[in-house]
Amino acid sequence: MSQRVRSFAPGRVNLIGEHTDYNGGLAMPMAIDLGVTVEGVRRGDLVRLRSSEVPGDAVVPLRPAEITELEPPWARYVAGVVAAVDPDVGLIGEVRSSLPIGVGLSSSAALELALALALGLEVPCREAARICQRAEQTAVGVPCGIMDQLASAAGVEGHALLIDCATLEIEPVLLPEELEVVVVASGEYRRLAESAYGQRRAECEAAASVVGPLRDATLADLASIEDEVVRSRARHVLTENARVLAFAAAVRRGDLEEAGALLRESHASLRDDFAVSTPGLEALVAGLDSVPGVYGSRLTGAGFGGCAVALTSPGALGDGWRVRPSAGAALI
Ligand code: GLA
Repeated sequence: MSQRVRSFAPGRVNLIGEHTDYNGGLAMPMAIDLGVTVEGVRRGDLVRLRSSEVPGDAVVPLRPAEITELEPPWARYVAGVVAAVDPDVGLIGEVRSSLPIGVGLSSSAALELALALALGLEVPCREAARICQRAEQTAVGVPCGIMDQLASAAGVEGHALLIDCATLEIEPVLLPEELEVVVVASGEYRRLAESAYGQRRAECEAAASVVGPLRDATLADLASIEDEVVRSRARHVLTENARVLAFAAAVRRGDLEEAGALLRESHASLRDDFAVSTPGLEALVAGLDSVPGVYGSRLTGAGFGGCAVALTSPGALGDGWRVRPSAGAALI
C-alpha cells in the first residue's frame, strides 16, 4: 500500500550560545520561517528524491552503505537519515527549500528533520533531534552537536529556545514583537567537514580532560590548563554559557540594548578566544554594528564564514533575511 506524505522542517538561526552544545552548555537558537518541504509517496524499497534547488536525484537503498562517498553530495544527507531512521518502506518524492542552502541557516538539519518525518519517524522532538544529529554526523563525518536539529525539531512560534544541552531541557523565551532578527551572509562559503570544527571540539575535550566538564568549571579552574590555546577555547565556552543566561534575562525584561551588547561580546569571544571568525565576517559585523537601530550583531553558527545575525529595531537593515521565530518540524 502506498501513502502520500508531506512534511516541513524549519532552518534555524542561533541568537547566542555558540560552540557550547557539544560541551554540555547553553544555547539560544530559534527555528525560522524558512525551511525544507518533503513531499512524496511512501512505497517500495528505495528512497528516490528530486530537489527543486540542487541538480541530481538522490537514490538511496533502505540499507545504505559508504554514505560519505555518495553522489550527488546531497544524497549523503538523505542516506544518513535513512540509516538513522531505518524505515521499512521507501519514499518517492521531491524536496523543496525556501532556505538558502549552505549559508549557515541549517538547511541540512531542516532536510534531515523533514525527511525523517516523511519516512514515518514518530518520536518526541528530542529523540528526533538526536536521530537526525546522528544522520548529519554519518553524512558528513563531522562530530556536530545537537543544536541545529533540536532547534528545527522543537521550534515554538514567536519564541527563541533556551536549550540546556546537558539535559536537552528547553525553555521557550518570548521575543518582543518590535525586535527584528536579520541574517546577513558573509559571502564566504564554508563546509564544516573542511573547517577546524573537529579541531575546536578536540581542543574543548582537551580542556575538559584537565578541569572536568566545562559546564561545571569556573574561570579560576582554567589556570590549571597549561596550553594557552586550549585555555582560551575553554574560556570562550565558560563566558558564552554565562552570556546565554544574561541574554535570556535581558530579552525577558525587554532590555534590547543589553541583549545587543551581549551579542557583540559573544562575537569578540568567538574571534579572540575561539578563533572561528574570518576577515569577511569581521567586516560584515563591524558594518552591521555601525548602522543606527542595530542593537548588536555577531557571527552565527559554526563560523569559518557563513553568516551574521543582527538584532535590530524595525526596518533598521535593508539587506539580509528578516526571519521570524517559528514552529518546529511537522507533517502537514
Ligand atoms: C554547527 C553545529 C552545531 C553547533 C554550531 C556551533 O552549527 O552543527 O551543533 O556546534 O556549529 O555553535
